Amino acid sequence: MSEPDGDARVEELQAQVDELSRETLDRYRQINLLYRIGESINDCLGQEDICKLVLRESRRIVRARKGRIVLDDGLTVGSAPANPGSVLTVPIETAQGRVGEIWLYDKRDADFFPAADEKLVRALGRQAGIALVNNQLIVGLRDHNEELERLNDELKALDQMKTDFVSNVSHELRTPLASIKGFAATILDDDEMPDEILREFVGIIDEESDKLIVIINDILDVSKLLSGKMQYEIGRRPLEKVVQGVVTLLRIQAENKGLELTFDLQEEALVDCDATRISQVFTNLVGNAIKFTDDGWVRIRQWVEDGEVHVEVSDSGIGIHPEELPQIFDKFYRIENVVHTKEGTGLGLALVRTILEHHQGRVTAHSEVGQGAIFTVHLPTAPV
Ligand SMILES: Nc1ncnc2c1ncn2[C@@H]1O[C@H](COP(=O)(O)OP(=O)(O)OP(=O)(O)O)[C@@H](O)[C@H]1O
Ligand SMILES: [Mg+2]
Repeated sequence: MSEPDGDARVEELQAQVDELSRETLDRYRQINLLYRIGESINDCLGQEDICKLVLRESRRIVRARKGRIVLDDGLTVGSAPANPGSVLTVPIETAQGRVGEIWLYDKRDADFFPAADEKLVRALGRQAGIALVNNQLIVGLRDHNEELERLNDELKALDQMKTDFVSNVSHELRTPLASIKGFAATILDDDEMPDEILREFVGIIDEESDKLIVIINDILDVSKLLSGKMQYEIGRRPLEKVVQGVVTLLRIQAENKGLELTFDLQEEALVDCDATRISQVFTNLVGNAIKFTDDGWVRIRQWVEDGEVHVEVSDSGIGIHPEELPQIFDKFYRIENVVHTKEGTGLGLALVRTILEHHQGRVTAHSEVGQGAIFTVHLPTAPV
């Protein structure tokens, strides 16, 4: 065996070194590229930004004229040429599988894209997959967070309402209690009180006790309704009788404020209802109308339409801002919680809504500030 020619050997080794350095350089380029993309991909905000970045970098690697990314969920970034000479297609993969493809085009002949470049684009495709999955997780987390914040705000509002409620109830209970205590003490202190004054004072004590009973019953009713323990005694009754009863009861209150109170019965109607509960509905609606009206009138109107009886309670009072309308039916909600000028605990309309729901009915409200309010009760008429 002859010794290989010294120069040839050197050349051979030289070629090997060149080859190795080229490979090392390629590797270095590859690592550098993936590292750089890995960095910026994390700063990308959405799916589309990630795709744009990946497309830009893949086109740069293979020096493709055009390219596009198509995701299985429908998103497309970039475009395809009309007559591409060569095409390179690489999947975008996640741990769960393929989620889309990277398409790269060039006008020149097939085999324009070398295997080494294809490898690099494949690596990019995997990186894109990871970034897209991360992005989904981040979006999910953000939504979750927003939902949590919303719930938290709701809880805070509810907590505030409860605080307001406790202060309203204490106020509502304290006023009649103070007056009962005051008049009872005066009677006890004065042995020679004339009968007439005595009767007047006892009358006041009686009235104030009634107020206490109403408030306490309301609170008990609400807790019964909330726990679903309310018993309903349903019977067939003319609705106008129930409404008329409420009107008679509240007429004095209206007259004391100089308000005109009318009941326009356009059509009689039989309904299957618990008369006590339905009476409670109208006591609150007409009571509110009187309470929130200082001048003018409170009008009630009953008519039948499409198998439903409608009872409208309208007033010429202070009205309600349309934005507040959806909330006034929430328990404890009172528009004037900040300045407590009118009596009330904010339970009335919550009771109205719950009671009507139990009767397959509903209540609607329309109002503008300063234009009075209209509350309409809808109840199904009894089947014949
Ligand atoms: N006819 C009305 N005109 C103007 N505002 C009204 C009217 N009816 C209700 N509201 C507003 O809706 C709020 C809620 O009414 P709701 O009957 O539930 O409570 P309330 O009357 O304040 O207390 P309660 O009925 O427990 O005595 C009232 O505090 C008031 O701000
Ligand atoms: Mg009320």
